[in-house]
Amino acid sequence: MIVRQLSVGAMANFVYLVADEESREALVVDSGWETGPVERTAAELGAKVKYAVATHEHFDHVSTLEELAKDLGAEVVAHEKSPVRCDVRVADGTELALGRSKVRVIHTPGHTEDSICLYDGSEVFTGDTLFVGTIGRFDLAKAGEMYRSLYEVILGLPAPTEVYPGHDYGGVPHRTLGEEKGSNPYLGCKDFKGFLSLFS
Ligand SMILES: [Fe+2]
Repeated sequence: MIVRQLSVGAMANFVYLVADEESREALVVDSGWETGPVERTAAELGAKVKYAVATHEHFDHVSTLEELAKDLGAEVVAHEKSPVRCDVRVADGTELALGRSKVRVIHTPGHTEDSICLYDGSEVFTGDTLFVGTIGRFDLAKAGEMYRSLYEVILGLPAPTEVYPGHDYGGVPHRTLGEEKGSNPYLGCKDFKGFLSLFS
C-alpha cells in the first residue's frame, strides 16, 4: 500500500491517504481541519478515493469529512454506533476493498464507543486509541473497554505492523507495534489491575 501521512491543523492531527499501488484506489483516514492537503496528495498520486473513513466522532477528526468526500466523489464511512453522518456503516471485521487490497475495520471502543482502527496487513491506523508513546483519553468507567482494545485487539496484531496514530504526540510520527510495546508505558502492564493503577 502507498501511505501518505499528513499533519493538519493546530491540534497536531494526522490524516492519511492509503492507496492500493496497482489500481490506485484509495481511502482517507479522517479529514482533520482542512481538505486541501489530502486533495492535493490524491491528485499527485492519481488516487481514486473511494472512502473517507472516520476513526471516531471527535470534531478534530471529522469536521471536514463530508466536504472531502463530496470533493473526491467518495463515501463517508463510520462505525455502526457512530453519530457521524455517513454513507456506509461498518462493524468489526468489515473489509473495505481497494483494488485487490483489503483494509479491515477493527472496533476498538474505549476512547469513544465508535472508535475503529484500520488494518491492511502491514499498517494499522489507530485514531485516538493508540499514539506513539501514549494512548487516547478515556472515561475511567470505560477502562475495561480500553484495556481490551489495546491488549486483546491491537497487541494481537503482528509486531512488525506499523502504527499510524491520529495525532503527532510522540517523538517520531510512526513506529512498529513491537517498538511501541517495548516502550509505551500504557502497553507494558501485566494485567488489567496494573493498567488501572496507572490512572489512580
Ligand atoms: Fe478523539
